[in-house]
Amino acid sequence: MQFGRVAALEDAYLKRTLDKTISPQDHMYNTGPDWYFSVGVDGLRVVLRALAMGRLNEVNHILDLPCGHGRVARHLHACFPNAHLTFADIDTDGVDFCVERFGGTGIYSQPDLSQVAFDVTYDLIWIGSLFTHVEQARAETWLRHLCGLLAPNGVLIATLHGNWSKEVQRSYGAMIGDAEWAKIMAGYELTGWGYARYPGPDNYGVSLCRASTVMAMAGRIEGVRILSYTERGWAGNHDVLVMEKWDRMEKF
Ligand SMILES: C[S@@+](CC[C@H](N)C(=O)[O-])C[C@H]1O[C@@H](n2cnc3c(N)ncnc32)[C@H](O)[C@@H]1O
Repeated sequence: MQFGRVAALEDAYLKRTLDKTISPQDHMYNTGPDWYFSVGVDGLRVVLRALAMGRLNEVNHILDLPCGHGRVARHLHACFPNAHLTFADIDTDGVDFCVERFGGTGIYSQPDLSQVAFDVTYDLIWIGSLFTHVEQARAETWLRHLCGLLAPNGVLIATLHGNWSKEVQRSYGAMIGDAEWAKIMAGYELTGWGYARYPGPDNYGVSLCRASTVMAMAGRIEGVRILSYTERGWAGNHDVLVMEKWDRMEKF
């Protein structure tokens, strides 16, 4: 998308009134009210930067997965008021909240995301903090599945725990207990992708990955190309991977 077009999208977004309604169930707000809105708007800036790198001209269909209770969705809605938004999460209350506030379609996800049916393709897929919670095999399967849902020239953005997350765990409030973190670091040192589950029944936890491991994983997916990898690209915290539905092997 041309810079001028991206700038026009941002200008129009800044003139619109943001829906600041918060669900009482919004875990991201309840655990971080001070940075909730700044992190949300920075998610939109990540999207705009990604669009400026790619070939897409129009954003008509957007998938926000996992949508939570709309930390980024509210900004996507304000920036792309005419696009059709799809909200997916395993948290059905979050999906219902997003559909009610921002319109569009809701999809209830499943523990195995690759079993979830999506009936359309998307120009933009925003994956804010999902791969940050699973091991590499699941992340790769899901990334492949989601790349398959991109429309031609569509852009996929996924956030990850990179190097900075070590400092977050050490100095800014631990994401997980010491024993689990030791397991994560051991896996990280061995393979470039460490993971440990949160205590409890859910097959869900915290991951930590090397940029080179993420690049290798994204590079194994056919029919797409890697647009960028940015350390601490989202709100100075998560790393950001951007992929585009344009075959890296296609002739000019
Ligand atoms: C850290 S939150 C991020 C939510 C949102 N993207 C944001 O930035 O506010 C992680 C989300 O992943 C969701 N989740 C976990 N497993 C999932 C799955 N298999 N499919 C879809 N969403 C899932 C959780 O319910 C939770 O809302």
